Amino acid sequence: MNNFKLKVLVSMVSVALAFSACGGKVNEQSSSSSANQASSAASRLPVIEAVLTQAPNVPPPVARNYAAKIVVNMETQEKVMRMADGVDYMFWTFGGQVPGQFMRIREGDEVEFNLSNSPDSKMPHNIDLHAVTGPGGGAASSFTSPGHTSTFSFKALNPGLYVYHCATAPVGMHIGNGMYGLILVEPKAGLPKVDREYYVMQGDFYTKGKYGEAGLQPFDMEKAIKEQPDYVVFNGSVGALNGDKAITANVGETVRLFVGNGGPNLVSSFHVIGEIFDKVYVEGGDLVNKNVQTTLVPAGGAAITEFKVDVPGTFIMVDHSIFRAFNKGALGMLKVSGPEDKIIYSGKQADKVYLPEGSAAQSIRNPAAAVATKALTKDEQIALGQNLYESNCLACHQAKGEGIPHAFPPLAKSDYLNADHNRSVDILLHGRSGPITVNGETYDSVMPAIALNNDQIANVLTYVLNSFDNKGGQITSAQVEKRRKLPPPSVNDIHM
Ligand code: CU
Repeated sequence: MNNFKLKVLVSMVSVALAFSACGGKVNEQSSSSSANQASSAASRLPVIEAVLTQAPNVPPPVARNYAAKIVVNMETQEKVMRMADGVDYMFWTFGGQVPGQFMRIREGDEVEFNLSNSPDSKMPHNIDLHAVTGPGGGAASSFTSPGHTSTFSFKALNPGLYVYHCATAPVGMHIGNGMYGLILVEPKAGLPKVDREYYVMQGDFYTKGKYGEAGLQPFDMEKAIKEQPDYVVFNGSVGALNGDKAITANVGETVRLFVGNGGPNLVSSFHVIGEIFDKVYVEGGDLVNKNVQTTLVPAGGAAITEFKVDVPGTFIMVDHSIFRAFNKGALGMLKVSGPEDKIIYSGKQADKVYLPEGSAAQSIRNPAAAVATKALTKDEQIALGQNLYESNCLACHQAKGEGIPHAFPPLAKSDYLNADHNRSVDILLHGRSGPITVNGETYDSVMPAIALNNDQIANVLTYVLNSFDNKGGQITSAQVEKRRKLPPPSVNDIHM
């Protein structure tokens, strides 16, 4: 076997090995030994089939120090998938998920792109890669009817993190239905080594029904033109990066986020609550900014953020246009495990709540995850209630229901909660202000009325009653409906 063939084989084997190791932990391809400065014609470049990954996973770093011919095989598919609990949507996709599959190549590589459109598709699709130098970024050359495959080639002249998207008319609708993803063109010298890499991509969605309205929701062109999305999400759906789907890291590790924004309309103010980006590759290019709190990610653009995680906890990723985060879904989680460092973060909390808007109970309308869903069994109620808890209650009452001393009462092992279920229903329906005593401690804060429907209140309370070492029990939708019809209790009625 000559040296050239051997190298091709090594590359392909290492790609295959690396492919089996996803999940954010960076697993470098083994480098082939000889340094080949090949700049030969496409026909003479070693051929490598591209590793494509679904978000939040990223293909392993390129370990080559020579150009290759990369073969990309990607299929467009139109699929009904979950937008939020109880809400479905007909997504148009690259590779069956939103965002589309992540591609990772090296500056100077030549790419043969084979775009197949599933025979089940109703629409033609194509691909415009912002990494392409050429008319339409490949769009016209890749226009593909259902059941066909188009092939075109390009050379990656510029390193950077680039968006790709469908550019078939009506373009806004194809992008608005989820047809976008990221392609990373690594610089010839590669990117600095980090411990973990993840793929996070924002998108805005426009549905006939308002946020949380159950059922299969069609695309709403009028809202899209007005740029008034019902959903703004990371990785294609509400909660795609929450709970057990959160991305993870260990204390002391370095994390790199490849952040994209498919739009179609909104610009993202990307922020990780409780972290500072040590480095941002601004707009996905060469310019590195340091010590950044929030970075702009344009529609049809990207950014690379890097940071070391120093303390454990759940770090919330948001679009800091903050109603999008808490009311439209643009919220994900990075869970960091490891030992505390009380010097870096003490855990100390404020003594009392600052209430500049007055002490009257406020009302929250259209809260996050306000999803109309009929739960049948207690277990189903608990499962649905957990999602509602994470998007509506967790910020104050905390992940394990422990509350925040002197500010937000605990829901864990709560004598107040377990003593009177109807009172708890009333608090969710009407809000609550004024002092209460929970487990021997007095709290004087404000709980806003949460505009959840009867099912949702029943589900979230059933979840809480059966979690955090509480005494169990079940709240039914009918019970909530009954309480809803009663006049709101006066503050005196609900004092302990
Ligand atoms: Cu399309």
